[in-house]
Amino acid sequence: MVNLGIWKKQENVKAALPPGLVVSHDKHISAAAVQEICASVGWTRRDVSLIGRALENSLAVTSVWEKEKLVAFARATGDKVFNATVWDVVVRPTHQHMGLGLLVMAELLNELDSYQIPLITLYADPGTDGFYKRFGFLADPSGVRGMFREKL
Ligand SMILES: CC(C)(COP(=O)(O)OP(=O)(O)OC[C@H]1O[C@@H](n2cnc3c(N)ncnc32)[C@H](O)[C@@H]1OP(=O)(O)O)[C@@H](O)C(=O)NCCC(=O)NCCS
Repeated sequence: MVNLGIWKKQENVKAALPPGLVVSHDKHISAAAVQEICASVGWTRRDVSLIGRALENSLAVTSVWEKEKLVAFARATGDKVFNATVWDVVVRPTHQHMGLGLLVMAELLNELDSYQIPLITLYADPGTDGFYKRFGFLADPSGVRGMFREKL
């Protein structure tokens, strides 16, 4: 298990975690495992080769493993200077409510903080903004609205 860094709830979470979990910051993890954990929460399956490219092009990738099983995942894109965006925060349903969501987010944010990036954004799915607020994320600060242009 890697050092959990500056996260203030570090000891609580470490104590609550089942033994044998390993945190990784390696981008070169199995894209098929990422596809599978995303599918486990009902997200649409994306092509494995595209997931592999997205991992390679990500600024930070955090994964939590129980032996060979990927149990939590998050990644971020960004420019290493001004901003980064968090994507694909997911915990396998069988492993939710154990603190792994907090752990994977804290690990990802620690890595982004190592670049001293001042602005980190994300898109919170309905019902998840309370989770992200715990890390200081604000919805629509100063009236700024997130906008989307999606090509289907
Ligand atoms: C959202 C998600 C990542 C949380 O993971 P988790 O491992 O269950 O969360 P944790 O066990 O670390 O929960 C930590 C705390 O956040 C709270 N929390 C968890 N999910 C929450 C939610 N959706 N909204 C508000 N608070 C939430 C928990 O109650 C807990 O609080 P507590 O410490 O006071 O009890 C997980 O439920 C998940 O993968 N959901 C499906 C995918 C998803 O929606 N991802 C986010 C996309 S934007």
